[in-house]
Amino acid sequence: MARLNGKYALITGGSSGIGLETARQFLAEGAHVAITGRDSDNLKAAGQQLGSEVLLLPSDAGDVPGQLRLAQQLSAHWPQLDVLFINAGDVTHRPLAEWDEATFEQLLATNLKGPFFLVQALLPLLANPASVILCGSVSARIGLPQSSVYAASKAGLLSLARTLSGELLHRGIRVNGLSPGPTETAALGKLGLPAAEQEQLRQDIRNLVPLGRMGTPSELAKAAVFLASDESSFVVGTELLVDGGVGNL
Ligand SMILES: NC(=O)c1ccc[n+]([C@@H]2O[C@H](COP(=O)([O-])OP(=O)(O)OC[C@H]3O[C@@H](n4cnc5c(N)ncnc54)[C@H](OP(=O)(O)O)[C@@H]3O)[C@@H](O)[C@H]2O)c1
Repeated sequence: MARLNGKYALITGGSSGIGLETARQFLAEGAHVAITGRDSDNLKAAGQQLGSEVLLLPSDAGDVPGQLRLAQQLSAHWPQLDVLFINAGDVTHRPLAEWDEATFEQLLATNLKGPFFLVQALLPLLANPASVILCGSVSARIGLPQSSVYAASKAGLLSLARTLSGELLHRGIRVNGLSPGPTETAALGKLGLPAAEQEQLRQDIRNLVPLGRMGTPSELAKAAVFLASDESSFVVGTELLVDGGVGNL
């Protein structure tokens, strides 16, 4: 079954984790796929796994003028954009006392400001119908220590799923949030923790999940395929939690 046959799909942060697995599943469902990432070696490695037909577009999600350049690059290659999965995210967690203005602004730029201006820049290319998926987090719904700025950024992004849906409905553009719970990806290794603390955190996280385990990138990618495809044509302005029960149980 090819649920995304012929659709053009851009995934930000597609060189690792949830984004990379979503790129795999989008391709398997018949989509044309473009991925972004900051590190060009990581992008190339992802391209080798995904195949030569995938467009590799180096871009920093927190660079606002860069979002316009990304949209221009994409329109040079593709006639339209049917699916936009805004997935790249800054996952920095730290205690309140350790935040400074620069780190705060960097995180907000990557998780909220850049995504907002990317949707704006891509507006002329977005097809009718089109699906925009914003990667939130269950952290926006709970009070996890050290997640203050991260959770606030994701709450803002999830709010955009509602407001932009209201604004873009007449253009046939559905915007929805996709909120992972703890998921086995490289993100945990990017928190800057020593190995022993990382393992302890992994254990703490497992204990937090009612289903008793972390999710897999594949479980998140399946939800992204649903939201990207016409199977979700009546789903608009909402949030799909794929979180093992963290947000509700
Ligand atoms: N894993 C979890 O437990 C979990 C839970 C809730 C929500 N999420 C959300 O899920 C999304 C994906 O996370 P993941 O776990 O799959 O992480 P990951 O495995 O670390 O992958 C992150 C991807 O985003 C890219 N990226 C990071 N910062 C970027 C930036 N400023 N500009 C462009 N690309 C950037 C990375 O490539 P480069 O570093 O090379 O740029 C990489 O391709 C994030 O939005 C995260 O907040 C994850």
